Amino acid sequence: APTRSRVTLQVNGSPRTLTVDHRATLLDVLREDLGLTGAKKGCDHGQCGACTVLVDGRRANSCLLLAVAQDGTEIITVEGLAAGGELHPVQQAFLDRDAYQCGYCTPGQLCSAVGLFAEAAAGHPSYVTDPTRPSGQGPVELTAEEIRERMSGNLCRCGAYPNIVAAVEDVTR
Ligand code: FES
Ligand code: FES
Repeated sequence: APTRSRVTLQVNGSPRTLTVDHRATLLDVLREDLGLTGAKKGCDHGQCGACTVLVDGRRANSCLLLAVAQDGTEIITVEGLAAGGELHPVQQAFLDRDAYQCGYCTPGQLCSAVGLFAEAAAGHPSYVTDPTRPSGQGPVELTAEEIRERMSGNLCRCGAYPNIVAAVEDVTR
């Protein structure tokens, strides 16, 4: 049986065709084959969220996904969040709120927050539901408690949680 296959992934808006080992995770392919080292390998077991990316607009732990199974999907990594020379509103909020210390968890936190807005916006037709460009203008309203719950898959060893929650709250206003 073959152990490698050709796949085409839309990565940050560009088609990338490559041959992947069937055992390779999406995280390893992004980092090692595509040179996108923003997504981090923390636990490699789905427990820390450092590897979070968006797959077809939904946040996912890329260390748990086999790259071969993602053929045809649209992947957005932290490298793809900024557009046209402007930071994504979530990135700007993290900067404004000092929502990181060592920064290791930050790419995952950012992608997770963007995915959170897409989830929260479901059912809110007046909200911009493009997961890569939340309007930052509501009417998605999330309490700090809800934000903590929805971001609980993303661990921060530095304990920057209060500032992370504050940054995410800023984008809901
Ligand atoms: Fe994927 Fe920790 S590296 S969840
Ligand atoms: Fe260091 Fe979160 S800022 S792990």
